[in-house]
Amino acid sequence: MNGLHRKRQMAGISRDDDELVGLYEVAEMAGVSRTVVSNWRNRDQRFPAPIADLKSGPVFRVAQIRRYLKRRKTHMAHVVSTINLKGGVGKTTTTFALAEILSGEYGKRVLCVDLDPQTNLTTVLIGEEAWSKLNKEGHTLATLFRDALRPEGEPPKFDLEKTLQRGISSVREVHRVDLLPSSLDLIDVQDRLGTMSSGKFFANNPTDLLRKAIKPVLDNYDYVLVDCPPNLGIVTLNGLRISDGYIIPTIPDVLSTYGIPQIQRRVREFASNIGEDIAEIGIVITKYRAASTVHNTTISRLEEDPNLPVVMESFIPEADRIAASAEFAERGTLRQKYGYQGQFNAFNALTKEFMKLVEESV
Ligand SMILES: Nc1ncnc2c1ncn2[C@@H]1O[C@H](COP(=O)(O)OP(=O)(O)OP(=O)(O)O)[C@@H](O)[C@H]1O
Ligand SMILES: [Mg+2]
Repeated sequence: MNGLHRKRQMAGISRDDDELVGLYEVAEMAGVSRTVVSNWRNRDQRFPAPIADLKSGPVFRVAQIRRYLKRRKTHMAHVVSTINLKGGVGKTTTTFALAEILSGEYGKRVLCVDLDPQTNLTTVLIGEEAWSKLNKEGHTLATLFRDALRPEGEPPKFDLEKTLQRGISSVREVHRVDLLPSSLDLIDVQDRLGTMSSGKFFANNPTDLLRKAIKPVLDNYDYVLVDCPPNLGIVTLNGLRISDGYIIPTIPDVLSTYGIPQIQRRVREFASNIGEDIAEIGIVITKYRAASTVHNTTISRLEEDPNLPVVMESFIPEADRIAASAEFAERGTLRQKYGYQGQFNAFNALTKEFMKLVEESV
């Protein structure tokens, strides 16, 4: 070993700049998992092109990888969708509580994406009045999807800057939650998207509209949380298209948990079609009643089934205070909003667990 090489090793730089490395070594250099590197390759146009594509996988020149890692400072948003085919199981409540706690307690920059035409996440976060104004001006995600259906030659109307609502929480200690609002008009747009089956529209890939539109801002965030409607239609697939993983909130009863294997199967199929990994992050138990036999036996059944995603340890209790948190109103602290009798603590514990699982799995 020559002197220069030894010095480099001592400085922790053991690779020569013109050495060739595979994806495994890139992950090692960046200190992240292989999946993260695959995501960078798929999402980030700045990721270097391989020098060669060998049977064992692509190889890259170390100098280029190093330059790339420096430029991106290894920062990337974690994108997570909230899904369940059953309605009213706490998807939206889980999404906004995670968003506000990630920001208020942990200083994370969070983007909420409301893909549900019911606009619940939007009105919880900015109120009816602000939503109504944005909707009149066309500054919602309905405009993005409507653009895909416009006649040839007509200019697109979606304006990311005007649609993105920054720093919107009504809780004083929450500073860094942004929102891409939804619209009731999305119901109609979703139906029309579903009936378009050929031509220019499908050449545009109908599940890639959201990804293309928000790419410029995505990595400004630590977490992007996507609230999906209770179906797996084209709009939901747009959310999954940008997601590294998903969570399934569920009330622990027979009917609410019935569709979980179907969600897993459909998401897996979609992920394989687009050549991405979409991790099953976990099942979130919502509206939990400790005295309910059905709730407890359902949770045991979910925990024991090796084919289901892991059941997250922090259960969210059923509580009036949590139901009231959906009301748009000024509040000083997160504890005031979610409740002092253990409700805030349950969400806070869930948030910690969520961050750990997300960072491990995506
Ligand atoms: N832990 C809880 N305790 C009591 N009420 C709750 C709790 N979580 C949610 N709720 C209430 O239950 C209702 C449904 O919750 P939420 O809107 O979060 O569910 P959802 O799955 O998003 O519904 P949808 O399928 O309609 O989008 C709301 O009125 C909400 O305020
Ligand atoms: Mg909802």
